[in-house]
Amino acid sequence: MLQLPKVIGHRGAMAYAPENTLESFREAHRRGATWVEIDVKLTADGVPIVMHDSSLKRTTGVDRLASEMRASELPPAVPTFEQAIACFGELGLGCNVEIKPCEGREAETARVTVETLRRLWPASLPAPLLSSFKDPSLATAREAAPEFARALLIDELKDDWRGRAEAVSAAGINTNGKRLTAVRAVEIRKAGYVLSVYTINDGDVARALVGMGVQCVISDAPDVILAALT
Ligand code: G3P
Ligand code: MG
Repeated sequence: MLQLPKVIGHRGAMAYAPENTLESFREAHRRGATWVEIDVKLTADGVPIVMHDSSLKRTTGVDRLASEMRASELPPAVPTFEQAIACFGELGLGCNVEIKPCEGREAETARVTVETLRRLWPASLPAPLLSSFKDPSLATAREAAPEFARALLIDELKDDWRGRAEAVSAAGINTNGKRLTAVRAVEIRKAGYVLSVYTINDGDVARALVGMGVQCVISDAPDVILAALT
Protein backbone atom coordinates (compact mmCIF):
# COMPACT_ATOMS: atom_id res chain seq x y z
CA MET A 1 0.00 0.00 0.00
CA LEU A 2 1.53 3.29 -1.14
CA GLN A 3 1.82 5.78 1.73
CA LEU A 4 2.67 9.36 0.84
CA PRO A 5 2.87 12.49 2.98
CA LYS A 6 0.45 15.37 2.37
CA VAL A 7 3.28 17.50 0.98
CA ILE A 8 6.48 16.73 -0.97
CA GLY A 9 9.19 19.32 -1.60
CA HIS A 10 9.73 19.78 -5.34
CA ARG A 11 13.39 19.32 -6.35
CA GLY A 12 14.01 19.85 -2.63
CA ALA A 13 12.62 23.25 -1.81
CA MET A 14 13.37 25.06 -5.04
CA ALA A 15 11.61 28.26 -4.00
CA TYR A 16 14.43 28.78 -1.51
CA ALA A 17 17.54 26.96 -2.72
CA PRO A 18 19.05 25.80 -6.03
CA GLU A 19 16.90 22.93 -7.30
CA ASN A 20 17.98 19.30 -6.99
CA THR A 21 20.96 20.07 -4.74
CA LEU A 22 21.86 18.77 -1.29
CA GLU A 23 21.33 22.34 -0.07
CA SER A 24 17.79 22.23 -1.44
CA PHE A 25 17.06 18.91 0.33
CA ARG A 26 18.37 20.34 3.61
CA GLU A 27 16.23 23.45 3.13
CA ALA A 28 13.13 21.33 2.48
CA HIS A 29 13.83 19.40 5.68
CA ARG A 30 14.38 22.62 7.67
CA ARG A 31 11.02 23.87 6.41
CA GLY A 32 9.17 20.80 7.59
CA ALA A 33 9.04 18.57 4.51
CA THR A 34 9.30 14.87 5.26
CA TRP A 35 9.75 13.91 1.58
CA VAL A 36 11.32 15.50 -1.48
CA GLU A 37 10.94 14.91 -5.20
CA ILE A 38 14.06 14.67 -7.37
CA ASP A 39 14.81 14.04 -11.05
CA VAL A 40 17.30 11.31 -11.96
CA LYS A 41 19.14 10.88 -15.27
CA LEU A 42 22.40 9.28 -16.42
CA THR A 43 25.78 10.72 -17.34
CA ALA A 44 27.71 9.51 -20.38
CA ASP A 45 29.41 6.90 -18.21
CA GLY A 46 26.10 5.67 -16.80
CA VAL A 47 26.19 7.30 -13.36
CA PRO A 48 22.77 8.36 -12.06
CA ILE A 49 22.72 12.05 -11.14
CA VAL A 50 20.12 14.47 -9.83
CA MET A 51 19.33 16.91 -12.62
CA HIS A 52 16.11 18.08 -14.26
CA ASP A 53 17.17 19.41 -17.67
CA SER A 54 19.06 17.58 -20.40
CA SER A 55 21.60 20.41 -20.32
CA LEU A 56 23.44 21.74 -17.28
CA LYS A 57 23.27 25.30 -18.62
CA ARG A 58 20.22 26.68 -16.80
CA THR A 59 21.10 25.40 -13.35
CA THR A 60 24.92 25.49 -13.35
CA GLY A 61 25.97 27.71 -16.28
CA VAL A 62 27.87 24.79 -17.84
CA ASP A 63 26.73 24.58 -21.46
CA ARG A 64 26.89 20.80 -21.90
CA LEU A 65 24.45 17.89 -21.99
CA ALA A 66 24.39 15.58 -18.97
CA SER A 67 24.37 12.63 -21.34
CA GLU A 68 27.70 13.79 -22.82
CA MET A 69 29.51 14.39 -19.54
CA ARG A 70 31.37 11.93 -17.39
CA ALA A 71 30.43 11.97 -13.70
CA SER A 72 33.94 13.14 -12.83
CA GLU A 73 33.38 16.30 -14.91
CA LEU A 74 30.21 17.43 -13.12
CA PRO A 75 30.17 20.71 -11.24
CA PRO A 76 30.25 20.00 -7.47
CA ALA A 77 26.73 21.40 -6.97
CA VAL A 78 25.22 18.54 -9.03
CA PRO A 79 24.73 15.57 -6.72
CA THR A 80 25.00 11.99 -7.80
CA PHE A 81 21.95 9.91 -6.90
CA GLU A 82 24.18 8.11 -4.41
CA GLN A 83 25.06 11.38 -2.65
CA ALA A 84 21.40 12.38 -2.59
CA ILE A 85 20.42 9.07 -0.98
CA ALA A 86 23.12 9.48 1.67
CA CYS A 87 21.72 12.95 2.41
CA PHE A 88 18.18 11.53 2.75
CA GLY A 89 19.50 8.92 5.17
CA GLU A 90 21.15 11.62 7.25
CA LEU A 91 18.01 13.80 7.32
CA GLY A 92 15.40 11.02 7.47
CA LEU A 93 13.75 12.20 4.25
CA GLY A 94 11.54 10.08 2.04
CA CYS A 95 11.79 10.52 -1.74
CA ASN A 96 9.72 10.54 -4.88
CA VAL A 97 12.34 9.56 -7.44
CA GLU A 98 11.31 10.83 -10.85
CA ILE A 99 13.05 8.86 -13.59
CA LYS A 100 13.89 11.60 -16.09
CA PRO A 101 15.78 9.84 -18.88
CA CYS A 102 17.64 11.51 -21.71
CA GLU A 103 16.15 10.62 -25.09
CA GLY A 104 16.64 6.93 -25.88
CA ARG A 105 17.83 5.94 -22.39
CA GLU A 106 14.40 5.24 -20.89
CA ALA A 107 15.04 1.60 -19.97
CA GLU A 108 18.68 2.00 -18.96
CA THR A 109 17.91 4.94 -16.66
CA ALA A 110 15.14 3.00 -14.95
CA ARG A 111 17.37 -0.06 -14.49
CA VAL A 112 20.24 1.91 -12.99
CA THR A 113 17.85 3.86 -10.74
CA VAL A 114 16.29 0.77 -9.20
CA GLU A 115 19.64 -1.04 -8.90
CA THR A 116 20.97 1.98 -6.99
CA LEU A 117 17.91 2.04 -4.75
CA ARG A 118 18.24 -1.66 -4.02
CA ARG A 119 21.87 -1.21 -3.10
CA LEU A 120 21.70 2.01 -1.12
CA TRP A 121 18.22 2.96 0.02
CA PRO A 122 18.32 3.07 3.86
CA ALA A 123 15.98 0.59 5.51
CA SER A 124 15.17 3.24 8.12
CA LEU A 125 13.44 5.44 5.50
CA PRO A 126 9.95 5.01 4.05
CA ALA A 127 9.97 3.09 0.78
CA PRO A 128 10.59 5.47 -2.14
CA LEU A 129 8.06 6.19 -4.89
CA LEU A 130 9.24 5.96 -8.49
CA SER A 131 7.55 8.17 -11.04
CA SER A 132 8.03 9.04 -14.68
CA PHE A 133 6.38 10.68 -17.68
CA LYS A 134 7.92 7.82 -19.68
CA ASP A 135 5.80 4.69 -19.62
CA PRO A 136 8.73 2.53 -20.86
CA SER A 137 10.81 3.64 -17.87
CA LEU A 138 8.10 2.54 -15.46
CA ALA A 139 7.61 -0.73 -17.34
CA THR A 140 11.34 -1.46 -17.03
CA ALA A 141 11.29 -0.52 -13.34
CA ARG A 142 8.45 -2.94 -12.74
CA GLU A 143 10.30 -5.77 -14.47
CA ALA A 144 13.61 -5.08 -12.73
CA ALA A 145 12.35 -4.22 -9.25
CA PRO A 146 8.61 -4.69 -8.76
CA GLU A 147 8.96 -3.96 -5.04
CA PHE A 148 9.22 -0.19 -5.64
CA ALA A 149 5.83 1.48 -6.02
CA ARG A 150 5.30 3.41 -9.23
CA ALA A 151 3.28 6.48 -10.17
CA LEU A 152 2.57 7.54 -13.70
CA LEU A 153 3.27 11.22 -14.34
CA ILE A 154 0.68 12.71 -16.67
CA ASP A 155 0.58 16.41 -17.45
CA GLU A 156 -2.93 16.40 -18.91
CA LEU A 157 -5.14 13.44 -18.14
CA LYS A 158 -6.89 11.92 -21.14
CA ASP A 159 -9.25 8.95 -21.34
CA ASP A 160 -6.32 6.56 -21.75
CA TRP A 161 -4.90 7.29 -18.27
CA ARG A 162 -6.28 4.13 -16.70
CA GLY A 163 -4.99 1.80 -19.42
CA ARG A 164 -1.55 3.38 -19.16
CA ALA A 165 -1.56 3.07 -15.36
CA GLU A 166 -2.63 -0.57 -15.53
CA ALA A 167 0.05 -1.36 -18.10
CA VAL A 168 2.80 -0.42 -15.63
CA SER A 169 0.91 -1.55 -12.50
CA ALA A 170 1.04 1.96 -11.10
CA ALA A 171 -0.11 2.60 -7.55
CA GLY A 172 -0.43 6.32 -8.10
CA ILE A 173 -1.14 9.09 -10.57
CA ASN A 174 0.95 12.26 -10.31
CA THR A 175 -0.58 14.98 -12.42
CA ASN A 176 -0.46 18.72 -13.11
CA GLY A 177 -2.62 20.25 -10.38
CA LYS A 178 -3.47 23.24 -12.56
CA ARG A 179 -5.09 20.99 -15.15
CA LEU A 180 -6.82 18.49 -12.88
CA THR A 181 -10.61 18.52 -13.04
CA ALA A 182 -12.91 17.37 -10.26
CA VAL A 183 -14.33 14.66 -12.54
CA ARG A 184 -10.88 13.15 -13.21
CA ALA A 185 -9.95 13.37 -9.53
CA VAL A 186 -13.03 11.36 -8.56
CA GLU A 187 -12.38 8.84 -11.34
CA ILE A 188 -8.79 8.29 -10.18
CA ARG A 189 -9.64 7.95 -6.50
CA LYS A 190 -12.58 5.63 -7.24
CA ALA A 191 -10.25 3.41 -9.25
CA GLY A 192 -8.04 3.08 -6.16
CA TYR A 193 -5.01 5.13 -7.21
CA VAL A 194 -3.13 7.48 -4.90
CA LEU A 195 -3.54 10.95 -6.39
CA SER A 196 -0.73 13.51 -6.24
CA VAL A 197 -0.37 16.88 -7.95
CA TYR A 198 2.54 19.08 -8.98
CA THR A 199 3.62 21.91 -8.76
CA ILE A 200 1.38 23.87 -6.39
CA ASN A 201 2.78 26.80 -4.45
CA ASP A 202 -0.42 28.52 -3.40
CA GLY A 203 -2.09 27.45 -0.16
CA ASP A 204 -5.66 28.16 -1.29
CA VAL A 205 -5.15 26.16 -4.50
CA ALA A 206 -3.69 23.28 -2.47
CA ARG A 207 -6.70 23.28 -0.12
CA ALA A 208 -9.10 23.23 -3.06
CA LEU A 209 -7.24 20.30 -4.65
CA VAL A 210 -7.28 18.36 -1.37
CA GLY A 211 -11.02 19.06 -1.28
CA MET A 212 -11.25 17.37 -4.68
CA GLY A 213 -9.57 14.23 -3.33
CA VAL A 214 -5.88 14.96 -3.92
CA GLN A 215 -3.77 13.15 -1.32
CA CYS A 216 -0.32 14.64 -1.90
CA VAL A 217 0.82 18.07 -3.09
CA ILE A 218 4.28 18.50 -4.61
CA SER A 219 5.48 22.06 -4.02
CA ASP A 220 8.50 24.33 -4.47
CA ALA A 221 7.53 25.86 -1.12
CA PRO A 222 6.58 22.88 1.06
CA ASP A 223 6.35 25.06 4.19
CA VAL A 224 3.64 27.21 2.58
CA ILE A 225 1.55 24.20 1.64
CA LEU A 226 2.09 22.48 4.99
CA ALA A 227 0.86 25.61 6.74
CA ALA A 228 -2.17 25.81 4.46
CA LEU A 229 -3.15 22.19 4.99
CA THR A 230 -2.89 22.08 8.79
O1 G3P B 1 7.34 14.93 -10.34
C1 G3P B 1 6.61 16.10 -10.40
C2 G3P B 1 7.25 17.12 -11.29
O2 G3P B 1 8.60 17.24 -10.95
C3 G3P B 1 7.13 16.77 -12.74
O3 G3P B 1 7.57 17.76 -13.61
O4 G3P B 1 9.21 18.86 -15.04
O5 G3P B 1 9.12 19.43 -12.62
O6 G3P B 1 10.02 17.24 -13.38
P1 G3P B 1 9.04 18.35 -13.66
MG1 MG C 1 10.40 16.25 -11.49
